[in-house]
Amino acid sequence: MERTLVILKPGTLQRGLVGEVISRFEKRGLKLVAMKMKQLDQDILDVHYAHLKDKPFFPWLCDGMMAAPVILCCWEGFEAVKVVRAMAGSTNARNAAPGTIRGDYALSAQENIVHTSDSVENAKVELDRFFSPEDYCEYPSPLNQYLYAPDEK
Ligand code: TYD
Repeated sequence: MERTLVILKPGTLQRGLVGEVISRFEKRGLKLVAMKMKQLDQDILDVHYAHLKDKPFFPWLCDGMMAAPVILCCWEGFEAVKVVRAMAGSTNARNAAPGTIRGDYALSAQENIVHTSDSVENAKVELDRFFSPEDYCEYPSPLNQYLYAPDEK
């Protein structure tokens, strides 16, 4: 099964939306296999958002990501990267469709509730950035037969 990284941003914690956002992934049927709370710093953000380093909003983005702790989650499921990305909605929350996480809880391109990995390749790199092998929990998935067809794994 595929794994993807979700970061619940500082605003999500401050606004008391952590439970609601996690609940959406749970209800969709995704499996939570690792989770931790962490205060991010500039060094890790320089790496995580390296593709945005030259953008004018980069300093604000980093300030926002360091304004309070984040919640790091690894969700597992069949094609989890694209499923989670679609659940998040457009980066600019004002363009995000109602029913998506950003479309339901945010109004900003920066303060947009979640980070989600954008490809299978990046998901592996990002998960390694924030989690160690011992952070992952192995446990049975007794409902998989009600969530997936036999060839969906
Ligand atoms: P990006 O990786 O393009 O989007 P996503 O989070 O949807 O994968 O951008 C990373 C973060 O940078 C984004 O979540 C919020 C911030 N950002 C802005 O503040 N303004 C912008 O115009 C863009 C494109 C991103």
